[in-house]
Amino acid sequence: MQNSVSPSQLTGRPVISATGLFTPEESITNEELVESFNTYVDRFNAANCDAIAAGDVEVLEHSSVGFIEKASGIKARHVISKAPILDPDIMTPRWEERGNDEKSMMAEIGVIAARQALERAGRDASDIDAVLCAASNMERAYPAMAIEIQQALGIDGFGFDMNVACSSATFGIQTAADYIRAGNAKSVLVVSPEITSGHLNWRDRDSHFIFGDVATAVLVEDAAAAPAKHWDILGTKLKTVFSNNIRNNFGFLNRAAPENAGNADKLFVQEGRKVFKEVVPMVAQMIIDEADRLGLDPKTLRRMWLHQANAGMNRLIAQRVLGHEANDDESPTVLDTYGNTSSAGSIIAFHKHCDDLAAGDTGLICSFGAGYSAGTVFVRKVG
Ligand code: COA
Repeated sequence: MQNSVSPSQLTGRPVISATGLFTPEESITNEELVESFNTYVDRFNAANCDAIAAGDVEVLEHSSVGFIEKASGIKARHVISKAPILDPDIMTPRWEERGNDEKSMMAEIGVIAARQALERAGRDASDIDAVLCAASNMERAYPAMAIEIQQALGIDGFGFDMNVACSSATFGIQTAADYIRAGNAKSVLVVSPEITSGHLNWRDRDSHFIFGDVATAVLVEDAAAAPAKHWDILGTKLKTVFSNNIRNNFGFLNRAAPENAGNADKLFVQEGRKVFKEVVPMVAQMIIDEADRLGLDPKTLRRMWLHQANAGMNRLIAQRVLGHEANDDESPTVLDTYGNTSSAGSIIAFHKHCDDLAAGDTGLICSFGAGYSAGTVFVRKVG
């Protein structure tokens, strides 16, 4: 469908026209993950038994399926490269480095999600003005993945990459919404290819179970250009507060091979307990304040599509916002099958659990994570 809206018809009101999702075929269950991890632990301890006995090397402890499910709510995660992750001698994803004439991995899966969003909106790629590739790690410094996605889709406009860790997608949505509000674009794709398996330390007992791979896309448009069924964006709010509690030091000034011993800080590291304690009150208050600014009673929110990092965090945030313990219908989770997919998590939850809402229902897409960073997008169903 051509979205032939003349500039004079534009409203400056941003809406979500559609979303798209790419899910890798392969998935790792907690049982598979823990079996591989514990094999690695046993081999490590056996190989280092003298040094461990002498007190020079710390003994490694087993991981457990029971702990992972209870502490996080995660039961499985999709990944792009399963076998090497589960091989106790490798424990990291492996893929062939791609040449300059091949599509990058992030662009490849981002394009699949983007095409689905365009199809669901009945939109032609040639009508899109801009592509934002919003994700927590970029495959290369430049050219931007967003520009590669733009070219693959045949979009005449502009694109750029942005990284705000787990809040990349909501920061991308506000950026896209601001282009619409300012009249600088009528249709913007926010694409979040999250290949998180590449920055997870699969040998770290505290975090080896956290992440999974995925790609999402959100089509943000001017209301005049949107299909009859869409989601009005009632308001967006972003917040950042510096914290070292979630960190990844990998970068072009600092790029020793991450899987080498002693370079664990070149992968994801966190103080999970501190994150939990500090982020829950910050995000709950942010949601309540933003609802107030928009003249909404947070207790009347029909659904919250929260960042998918930890089921316990979501339970507490939803409880503070809604004033009662949220059920799955009010605060759906995708953690059980996807794990933490960084910025894509709340978008997957929205994508999979928004069709049943009625016109006029109000909901909230919310992210939080490293930075710290947090973003809220209040939406209302139309059509
Ligand atoms: N298997 C078995 N036991 C484990 C384990 C594993 N894989 N990992 C840790 N444990 C043990 C610890 O050794 C500790 O034992 P102790 O009590 O004897 O010392 C116990 O379990 C509790 O560990 P802790 O790290 O305090 O767990 P937790 O309850 O805080 O849960 C997280 C860990 C990471 C799931 C949780 O803190 C969390 O989700 N935090 C927020 C994460 C987040 O949102 N991050 C943002 C990323 S984008």
